[in-house]
Amino acid sequence: MRVLLIGSGGREHALAWKLAQSPLMTEFYAAPGNPGIAEHAQIVALDIDNHDAVVTFCKEKGIDFVVVGPEAPLVAGIADVLRAAGIAVFGPSAAAAQLEGSKGFTKDICARYDIPTGAYQRFNNATKAKAYVRAQGAPIVVKADGLAAGKGVTVAMTVDEALAAIDDCFEGAFGEAGAEVVVEAYLDGEEASFFCLCDGKHALALATAQDHKRVGDGDTGPNTGGMGAYSPAPVMTAEMIERTMKEVIEPTMRGMAESGHPFSGVFFAGLMITANGPELIEYNVRFGDPECQVLMMRLKSDLLPLLLACANGTLDQVTAEWSDDPALTVVMASKGYPGSYAKNTPITALPADREGEKVFHAGTGLKDGALVATGGRVLNITATGETVSEAKERAYALAGKVKWDNGFYRNDIGWRAVEREK
Ligand code: AMP
Ligand code: GLY
Repeated sequence: MRVLLIGSGGREHALAWKLAQSPLMTEFYAAPGNPGIAEHAQIVALDIDNHDAVVTFCKEKGIDFVVVGPEAPLVAGIADVLRAAGIAVFGPSAAAAQLEGSKGFTKDICARYDIPTGAYQRFNNATKAKAYVRAQGAPIVVKADGLAAGKGVTVAMTVDEALAAIDDCFEGAFGEAGAEVVVEAYLDGEEASFFCLCDGKHALALATAQDHKRVGDGDTGPNTGGMGAYSPAPVMTAEMIERTMKEVIEPTMRGMAESGHPFSGVFFAGLMITANGPELIEYNVRFGDPECQVLMMRLKSDLLPLLLACANGTLDQVTAEWSDDPALTVVMASKGYPGSYAKNTPITALPADREGEKVFHAGTGLKDGALVATGGRVLNITATGETVSEAKERAYALAGKVKWDNGFYRNDIGWRAVEREK
């Protein structure tokens, strides 16, 4: 099978590493890729925003299957263009990607199908949104409707904070994404990420994870794309997983099909486990980054047939096997991230991969043949262990072997699970 992988982050390196192990793989290409992905796939200089160019490349190389990593090309409709050209693709249509692209769209599906989530209203002007906030009181959550690179959400502990967030949105702080605002009830509990493949008619639960979004130790400082993760999430017991499938995933799948936009790809449900059970915070329509890295470390099955089953509508005919051993990843980022940071700083040593130890590349590049950091989140230092504590020790021991002066990382990834294990 000839496969093209779209993307260039740590998530895509993890997918590439796993896909490359498939006996079904005959030729493997990636665009834009990174130096880690280049160890598994041939990097092609393709403008992934130019969907026609991607189709032309696929036709030239006889690509059988395209795996799309990030959300932006999905929301922009790359899966629709590829499918129209007769090429199988892992990832939802633009219409189905609205589950991530529009928070209001998702909330409306929740309301229609009785999916547990915070009570909400959608607004297209500040006056009404503010009146609603004043009536509801704090804590309350204000969200820009569209994709805002993870920055469009304000969990407001006071009414004033919520009012300011509404002004920010309508004054253009998030561009078009903030032209509509969702105000929703604050949910109290522990967060978890749930991953599930869907082919439009069938759903296959994958695994759970927990992410650390804040930049600093003790979950402090500004939000980031994620500074580390581990899998499984202990809060997602077998009962919670079953309830999530029944109360959240299955009605969403049905809702999407009934609305004429069956969902094909991966549901990444951001959940709050409250006193009432799982409640939906948001959907993403792609694997989490860095959650994907820990999922791939634990997946024993061949990934390629699972993703293909998604595209072909045959998910009911496959199963996924997982290692019981937890996996944990520590993100090494450029000093200054999520603010501004220096580019092209040299990375002079990386630890060698061993069984259960793997460094995934995210924002790396080559400059005159030498490895440099090109992005905010740069390396994902990943390890498994018999417990989260052991995986954590191994991952941090590996991180200590990286020689990169401009890098930093959090020291407490996995703390909730480690506390539980004590
Ligand atoms: P989102 O971009 O929707 O994932 O939101 C970012 C973060 O804001 C989430 O990971 C939660 O920590 C928090 N958040 C979002 N919605 C709520 C809510 N309704 N109640 C409490 N926290 C929330
Ligand atoms: N790590 C969170 C995300 O991928 O959205």
